[in-house]
Amino acid sequence: MEKMPKPPELEPVAATDECEGNDWRDCLPLLTGRLASLREIEPTDAPTLVSLLTTPEVSRFLSQPPSTVEEFRRFVEWAVAERTAGRYACFVIVPHEARQPVGLIHVRELEPRMATAEWGFAIGSRYWGAGYFMDAARQVVDFSFGRLGVHRLEARAALQNGRCNNALQKIGAVKEAVLRRALFRDGEYLDQALWTIVDEDWQRARSAWEIHVH
Ligand SMILES: CC(C)(COP(=O)(O)OP(=O)(O)OC[C@H]1O[C@@H](n2cnc3c(N)ncnc32)[C@H](O)[C@@H]1OP(=O)(O)O)[C@@H](O)C(=O)NCCC(=O)NCCS
Repeated sequence: MEKMPKPPELEPVAATDECEGNDWRDCLPLLTGRLASLREIEPTDAPTLVSLLTTPEVSRFLSQPPSTVEEFRRFVEWAVAERTAGRYACFVIVPHEARQPVGLIHVRELEPRMATAEWGFAIGSRYWGAGYFMDAARQVVDFSFGRLGVHRLEARAALQNGRCNNALQKIGAVKEAVLRRALFRDGEYLDQALWTIVDEDWQRARSAWEIHVH
């Protein structure tokens, strides 16, 4: 049988980078990986991200994720204001064959001028194990050291969060410490691992990564 063409609303749109060459504080660039692109979070992402990221398995170890579409929209407004102030960058992960995001990945300042920053990430559980984390993480780590001016990138993961700890190890982060009783979730304090990447680690690792120059 002849293959029916897809209705236009289901066709993925080729993403264009209107921010290329700009200061990241004015506009986050589009980062293009092998499987997905990363673009700045927008208010229209709120319904999709709320449905993907508020499920029990995804939110279990996250500290206070926005839980309604309205809260998520306010979070996006805050994210854009913080990016303009040079303290925060939040990307959504959009697979090349899709229009809607499957998750987000963000970097926030801990020390002035982003010298030390913390990153975090969450992907809808139906997309776990598909390679989106590694693909997106490489792009964002490279952007952080290459464009944001980060020298040390920290991540915290509850010790029980097997997927997250394993994912951080795969990207080349070093487990520096255990932060005892550092995360309060569901009525109990959980220990967290502190995983770090410093600029020399990034320099060593990136030669093996598929990074498109941006
Ligand atoms: C963390 C997250 C983004 C990683 O994405 P992902 O697609 O699951 O990551 P990957 O599948 O590439 O890597 C996870 C690794 O953990 C392994 N893993 C799965 N379950 C595990 C468990 N219970 N214990 C230890 N490792 C586990 C996987 O096998 C995989 O390793 P492999 O590729 O060597 O087989 C995703 O799981 C997520 O969004 N989790 C919920 C939100 C969250 O916890 N965010 C992080 C807060 S620090």
